[in-house]
Amino acid sequence: MAVLETIAIAFWAMLPAYVPNNAAVLAGGGRPIDGGRTWGDRRVLGDGKTWRGTAMGIVAGLALAAVLTVIEPSVSDALGFPLPAFTPFAALGLAAGAMLGDILASFLKRRTGRQRGAMFPGLDQLDFVVVSLPLVALLDFDWFREWFTLEVLFVVVVLTPILHVTTNVIAYKLGLKNEPW
Ligand code: CTP
Ligand code: MG
Repeated sequence: MAVLETIAIAFWAMLPAYVPNNAAVLAGGGRPIDGGRTWGDRRVLGDGKTWRGTAMGIVAGLALAAVLTVIEPSVSDALGFPLPAFTPFAALGLAAGAMLGDILASFLKRRTGRQRGAMFPGLDQLDFVVVSLPLVALLDFDWFREWFTLEVLFVVVVLTPILHVTTNVIAYKLGLKNEPW
C-alpha cells in the first residue's frame, strides 16, 4: 500500500511537468526560439524549440496544476491518502522547469553535433526532471520538501523514463511526432 501511495503521489506531483512536453508537440511550430541563429556551424537550439510550443507547454502545465488542485480533495478522499495540491510557485516550477529542461537538452544536443530529432538516451527522458525539480525547490522549498521525499524522488526517476518512452511511442504511432523518442 505504501508503495502504491508513493507511486500515486509521484505521478500526481509530476503531472504538471509531464504535460508541457506533449502540449508543445501538439502546439509547436512558428518562430524558433533561437531565431535561426547558429553558434559555430550549428544551430543554438534548432527548429524544434519554438516560442509557441514553449508558451503553450507552460500554459498547459499551469492549467493542469490548477485543475488537479481543484479536484485534489475529492481524489484524496476517494483514495484514502493525501495527494499534493499545487501552490502557484510549485506549478510554475514544474511547468516552466520542464520546458526549460527540454530547451537545455536541445542546446546540449546541438553542441554535441546531434541534428534536430536525434536521440540522446537518458537526457531525452530525464531532462525535464533535472531542471523542474530544482526549480520547484527554489521557488517553493516547503512544498518541495513536503512532497518530494526520497521515496517519491526515487519513483520519479524510475517512472519518468518509462512514461516518457510510452507516451512518445504513442505520439509517434499517431503521427504527432517525427521520432519515437
Ligand atoms: N516543440 C516546440 N517547442 C518546444 C518543444 C517542442 O515547438 N519548446 C515541438 C516542435 O515542433 C518539436 C516537437 O515539439 O519538433 C517535438 O519536440 P522535441 O522532441 O523536444 O524536439 P525535436 O524536434 O526532436 O528537436 P530536438 O532534437 O531539439 O529535441
Ligand atoms: Mg526529439
